Amino acid sequence: MEAGVIGKVCLAENLEFLRSLPAESVDLIYIDPPFNTGKVQQRTQIKTVRSAKGDRLGFQGRRYKSIVVGTKRFSDLFDDYLAFLEPRLIEAYRVLSAEGCLYFHVDYREVHYCKVLLDTIFGREAFLNEIIWAYDYGGRPKNRWPPKHDNILLYAKDPSHYVFNTEEIERIPYMAPGLVGPKKAARGKLPTDTWWHTIVPTNGREKTGYPTQKPLGILRRILQASSRPGSVVLDFFAGSGTTGAAALELGRRFILVDNNPEALAVMARRFDGEEGIEWVGFDPKPHQAEVRQRGLFSKKRVEKE
Ligand SMILES: C[S@@+](CC[C@H](N)C(=O)[O-])C[C@H]1O[C@@H](n2cnc3c(N)ncnc32)[C@H](O)[C@@H]1O
Repeated sequence: MEAGVIGKVCLAENLEFLRSLPAESVDLIYIDPPFNTGKVQQRTQIKTVRSAKGDRLGFQGRRYKSIVVGTKRFSDLFDDYLAFLEPRLIEAYRVLSAEGCLYFHVDYREVHYCKVLLDTIFGREAFLNEIIWAYDYGGRPKNRWPPKHDNILLYAKDPSHYVFNTEEIERIPYMAPGLVGPKKAARGKLPTDTWWHTIVPTNGREKTGYPTQKPLGILRRILQASSRPGSVVLDFFAGSGTTGAAALELGRRFILVDNNPEALAVMARRFDGEEGIEWVGFDPKPHQAEVRQRGLFSKKRVEKE
C-alpha cells in the first residue's frame, strides 16, 4: 500500500481484485463469504415404465420407456459454493505474507466441506483452530438443539512460523474467580477457541443496517491476536466494513473489497471523517456528512446516524 494510505476500500469483483495483488503482500485475511451465490439449476426427473417399444433395456431383456415426471428448479447452492470459493482461496494463500494467517468465517452447515477444501490449499498441518462463535439470539426450534454458533477456521501460511500475540489479546473474566485467587481473577484469563459474544445489538451504536454485519468485538480479537500495528489486513467480502473498523481502532492498515455498491455506501458512512482512506471505483462523498449537511439527505436520517 502507498505511503500515507491507512485503508483502501474497493468496489470490485474480488477474484479479479485478488489476482491484481502482488504475492505475499498482506499480513492477515479475514473473510465471511455469503453462502448463497444465487445460481438456479434445473433438473428433470424421469420415471421408467415397462413397454415393448421402450428405448431402455433392463433385467432379463425387458424393455422400458422413460417418462418425464417433472422438472425441479432449485438453487444448487452447495456445489456452486465450493466452486465459487476455491479460486478465491487459492489467491488468498498466494497474497498472504510468510507469517500470515487466514480466518474463514462460515456457517455450521458448510464448515466441514470448507475445511476439506482449505486443507487441500493450505495443507492439513496449516490448520490451527476451529473457533466457535456462540451467541444466543433468535428463535429456538423444538425438534433439535437450537443452532446458535458460527465457525471460524484459522489457517497459517506457515504453521511453524506465524503471528500470534498472546499478550495483546484482551483477557476475559474467570467463570469462578473465587477459585483462582485475587491476582489472577483481576488479570482475567485468555479466551479459548469458544467465544461467547452477542450479535450486533439491534439498536446499538455499532449497528450499520447491513444485514450480515458481524460484531466488532470478534474482529478486534482476531486482529489483536494475528496482526501487528501497521500490518495490512485484507477482507475481500467486506460487507459493512467491520474488519476496517477494527483495523482503524487498533492501528492496522486495511484493504476492503466488496462488489455491492450498498456495502460501499454503508462503509462510506461508517468511515466518514477518517483520514487516509482511498476509495477505488466508488465515490463515498454523496453518503458522507458534508453532503448531508447541505441538506441532500433528510434531517431525520442524519440525526439517526
Ligand atoms: C456475509 S457479507 C460480509 C459481512 C461482513 N463480515 C460484515 O461484518 O459486515 C458478504 C459480502 O460479500 C460480498 N460479496 C459476495 N460475492 C462477492 C464477490 N464475488 N466479490 C466481492 N464481494 C462479494 C457481498 O456483497 C457481501 O457484502
